[in-house]
Amino acid sequence: MNTKQPTRATLPVEPARLGADPPALLYQGDVFDVLPSLAAGSFHTVVTDPPYAIGIDQWDTPATFDRTVAWRQITLDGAGGPMAGYRAWTRAWAQETRRVLKPGGWLICFGGARTWHHVAVGIEQAGFQIKDQIAWLYTSGVPKNLDLSNAIDQRLGYLRPDRRVGAPTAGLLPSRRVVDKGKPISPQARKWNGWGTALAPAFEPVIIAKAPTPLTIAANLLEHDTGAINTAAGHQPADRWPKNAALDQAAALILDQDCAARPGERSGLFPVFRHHPKATRAERPELDGGAHQTVKPLGLMRWLCTLFCPPDGVLLDPFAGSGATLEAAHQLGIESAGIELDPAHQQLIKTRFTQIGARPGTLI
Ligand SMILES: C[S@@+](CC[C@H](N)C(=O)[O-])C[C@H]1O[C@@H](n2cnc3c(N)ncnc32)[C@H](O)[C@@H]1O
Repeated sequence: MNTKQPTRATLPVEPARLGADPPALLYQGDVFDVLPSLAAGSFHTVVTDPPYAIGIDQWDTPATFDRTVAWRQITLDGAGGPMAGYRAWTRAWAQETRRVLKPGGWLICFGGARTWHHVAVGIEQAGFQIKDQIAWLYTSGVPKNLDLSNAIDQRLGYLRPDRRVGAPTAGLLPSRRVVDKGKPISPQARKWNGWGTALAPAFEPVIIAKAPTPLTIAANLLEHDTGAINTAAGHQPADRWPKNAALDQAAALILDQDCAARPGERSGLFPVFRHHPKATRAERPELDGGAHQTVKPLGLMRWLCTLFCPPDGVLLDPFAGSGATLEAAHQLGIESAGIELDPAHQQLIKTRFTQIGARPGTLI
């Protein structure tokens, strides 16, 4: 194990001011430097979207978490396995987050479908209670699939003369679109024609966890203003209670049509769920042609802030990214602070805040 000491001492980190009304601050540094410098019980709610450890970028690779765990001498839990570093890293930031949250405060945390169980365990090991999770459903995900029939033909040395692939796609994980799969050549390829290795990604879980408190729910609310959910503001007109699922428009339409008595009609049952498409281009700040790779939609973030942040509450996002949570909070008049390590992402947050006036409405 690398026993190198942390290179920076835990000094107070001066935040940049993003907005004054309501106040919005950006701490430009590492959560492991910034959080220990903040006073205990400073925040009512944490809404965040940490790295998923699926290798989207250098900041998202398991090796990065292993290195951080080693540098910071964070104790690994006994369970081991290839993701032990990520879990221990999660537990370490969640412990510090718990300290800066008021007792009974919510921690609302996104995770990736493949790795969120490590996040949930890390958060639980940090002393939070896991209360629920929200499934955010969308239809725009592209499967990272291997065409097994073609792979078998290639392995056996057959190149399909009628197979055609297009130019690499733009976006998060570029891939070459298959225009024509071509006909299987070998008998084995014919046997496995139509078989693959992946489903299309269509949901992201959002963990709902609560900081411990010795008080009863009502006593805690009176003392700290934390632990309540704004069910009256977070529901859809067609239903009286906010659900622990949010769908994008296309997913909601498919469900609606599936529930209809006759094909092609709408059922009238929806919208019971929130509708939140992926972030539009207009919601993704750019600087010198560069953008953040994992921007969350403002509507979804406004909904989460509305549900879980109390009146006059102060919200923290320790992995601010391009600042979607901070902008959502700002639009709702909620005081907020973010932490972001990457200087390029810090610049995107500042750019975002210069463009806030030009964004679409603030209805949740
Ligand atoms: C999934 S992204 C957040 C995206 C954000 N929700 C948005 O909509 O733009 C996670 C962010 O955490 C940042 N990050 C990773 N490790 C960090 C650390 N130790 N301290 C602070 N920020 C960190 C990354 O640079 C990245 O921007």
